[in-house]
Amino acid sequence: MTAPLLALDGLSCRFGGLVAVGQVSFAVQPGEIFGLLGPNGAGKTTLFNLISGITPPSGGSVHWRGSTITGLPSHRIARLGIARTFQNLRLFGSLSCLENVLVGLHKRSRQPLIPALLGNGLFRRRQAQLEEEALALLRLLDLEPWAKQRAASLAYGDRRRLEIARALATGPELLLLDEPAAGLNPREKQELSALIRSIREQFNLSVLIIEHHVPLMMELCDRLAVLNFGERIALGTPEQVRRDPAVIEAYLGTSR
Ligand SMILES: Nc1ncnc2c1ncn2[C@@H]1O[C@H](COP(=O)(O)OP(=O)(O)OP(=O)(O)O)[C@@H](O)[C@H]1O
Ligand SMILES: [Mg+2]
Repeated sequence: MTAPLLALDGLSCRFGGLVAVGQVSFAVQPGEIFGLLGPNGAGKTTLFNLISGITPPSGGSVHWRGSTITGLPSHRIARLGIARTFQNLRLFGSLSCLENVLVGLHKRSRQPLIPALLGNGLFRRRQAQLEEEALALLRLLDLEPWAKQRAASLAYGDRRRLEIARALATGPELLLLDEPAAGLNPREKQELSALIRSIREQFNLSVLIIEHHVPLMMELCDRLAVLNFGERIALGTPEQVRRDPAVIEAYLGTSR
């Protein structure tokens, strides 16, 4: 078996007396689409915050390609090749779609952003290349017609895809998606599933996805972990997870 890309070992996070994440362990393999399921408040987003360096863990460790990255600040983790989208979108609403993606590309290229955005002559040629790249990403996510429009003016589903475009622009090896299908209609959900697969192939990356829509997760993911009250109650293939009595009781048996 190849070395895992990302491994969590007994990862924990406490908020006062509340254990939001309790000793969670699992590993994501290169090229895998790995799902995180669990009821509201189960600790899924907190786990993403621990992995991406937004919240420091109270215990346990995070490993990237075998090295410990526990507690590193979020910009360093992003530079390693871990990109994420947010449950509550965090786009630059007053910037255009193109500019939002350019922000991601600049994180990768480390070219100063401000002169480039202002069109300073020195940067113009490189800027044209970056714009081409940004447009290609927008095209891939079916957003090219809206390239010059303000991000805030887009329909909800389009904004969700713009977040994915921006995350992809940073050149990640692992993409963390926090509820990318929330608020999408059934057709958009189906398209999203195909899109995530094609992104995996095209960019040769792994995906860790949080999503409440169980059929989508079962169809999309190679393996899944299920959280309940911060603890990992199941881990396995969609078939194994679907049959797990603890999952049926804690999650699939609920009305959601
Ligand atoms: N910054 C914080 N301070 C205090 N408690 C928090 C904080 N962030 C999350 N929590 C609590 O931790 C628990 C886990 O929250 P989290 O947002 O990780 O759940 P989730 O699984 O993502 O839920 P949802 O499906 O609703 O998005 C919840 O009880 C939440 O209220
Ligand atoms: Mg959440």
